[in-house]
Amino acid sequence: MAAAARARVAHLLRQLQRAACQCPTHSHTYSQAPGLSPSGKTTDYAFEMAVSSIRYGAGVTKEVGMDLQNMGAKNVCLMTDKNLSQLPPVKVVMDSLVKNGINFQLYDNVRVEPTDTSFMDAIEFAKKGAFDAYVAVGGGSTMDTCKAANLYASSPQSEFLDYVNAPIGKGKPVSGPLKPLIAVPTTSGTGSETTGVAIFDYEHLKVKTGIASRAIKPTLGLVDPLHTLHLPGQVVANSGFDVLWAVRNPDDLEARSNMHLASAFAGIGFGNAGVHLCHGMSYPISGLVKTYKAKDYNVDHPLVPHGLSVVLTSPAVFTFTAKMFPERHLETAEILGADTRTTKIQDAGPVLADTLRKFLFDLNVDDGLAAIGYSKADIPALVKGTLPQERVTKLAPRPQSEEDLSALFEASMKLY
Ligand SMILES: NC(=O)c1ccc[n+]([C@@H]2O[C@H](COP(=O)([O-])OP(=O)(O)OC[C@H]3O[C@@H](n4cnc5c(N)ncnc54)[C@H](O)[C@@H]3O)[C@@H](O)[C@H]2O)c1
Ligand SMILES: [Zn+2]
Repeated sequence: MAAAARARVAHLLRQLQRAACQCPTHSHTYSQAPGLSPSGKTTDYAFEMAVSSIRYGAGVTKEVGMDLQNMGAKNVCLMTDKNLSQLPPVKVVMDSLVKNGINFQLYDNVRVEPTDTSFMDAIEFAKKGAFDAYVAVGGGSTMDTCKAANLYASSPQSEFLDYVNAPIGKGKPVSGPLKPLIAVPTTSGTGSETTGVAIFDYEHLKVKTGIASRAIKPTLGLVDPLHTLHLPGQVVANSGFDVLWAVRNPDDLEARSNMHLASAFAGIGFGNAGVHLCHGMSYPISGLVKTYKAKDYNVDHPLVPHGLSVVLTSPAVFTFTAKMFPERHLETAEILGADTRTTKIQDAGPVLADTLRKFLFDLNVDDGLAAIGYSKADIPALVKGTLPQERVTKLAPRPQSEEDLSALFEASMKLY
């Protein structure tokens, strides 16, 4: 018996070790404990699943008032954006708050793809309100804004850049406790309801950056597939690209439900494992936007939605990274529908890239960076905007020089 148990433990340890050495730069978002893998490369020797509580099911949003009551909340901040404030998800939350006798104030000034200025506006509101709990109803933009509002209202002496990721900000650790935050995601893609990350455009540098701390992770995520039924088509696609899920059948509740749950799982995955090059490169792509405005987004400013900014470089990036782990790239191509039975392992990168291109073409995605307003002349600025994103780019399985980054942007100008 003891020998069998020992063998099982040894097997598990071997599996963990193998997972670690397949991914030499793997490091989760919050702590980076270095160790040596058998290959001699520095890598993590432990992992932790740091996750918000998630409740999933059609109609779970109705329970939000009861949850707040259980938390003892008396003065709640309800955050959303102007568009959603007119739609059923917010109405359901308000009804539940009223029914459970919870006092609340509504903040519906969240900016779609938030900026430091828009974060600051929400932070001011939160400071003035002296709230004892927060509810965020919306996509990543709303959930991230609410996390920032909770953080800075709980730490009123802090300067805005204190908690922003280095090197743009000071990347200070969060010390004090925050108020409970319930996140109700209405898009399927960011997984923000499960992560300790809040992303914004730093206008001054025209790049996206963020705050990463387990302290800002929502206390509870209410993942309710009913909300996804109101999503306009292009928002489904663009938010879904962030995690690369299938996005057809707008009226199919089952498909949308699965995608909504998948998004939360993806958030748990990348919230712990991190994201890499596509994300690092996406921040200047959205930050330097000129005039492009994505279809179906009800906004008054130019906007490259986050998911779109991430996915446009994916064929080039995975061609580049395939060299390190061709098996995994091939497996991904297979999951996305490619027939890989006769594919040579050294072709894993191009095969995955072609599979992605077909997928993007079928979903009417713009034909590369050129189609959203960039040209070769913009490449130096795009590279410059990627360099400070070390927090994510260093997680890529293959290190990149400035020349590599230029080549990746160039290869992403046109996809089809
Ligand atoms: N914190 C994280 O872990 C994380 C991860 C990925 C992305 N992000 C960030 O999230 C933001 C993008 O969020 P997003 O893609 O979820 O979208 P979003 O919050 O930007 O919303 C996009 C648009 O869809 C509308 N909308 C949202 N839900 C709707 C619904 N159910 N019905 C009708 N309209 C609806 C909104 O009003 C808005 O106009 C970016 O700023 C990105 O950087 C954060
Ligand atoms: Zn993302």
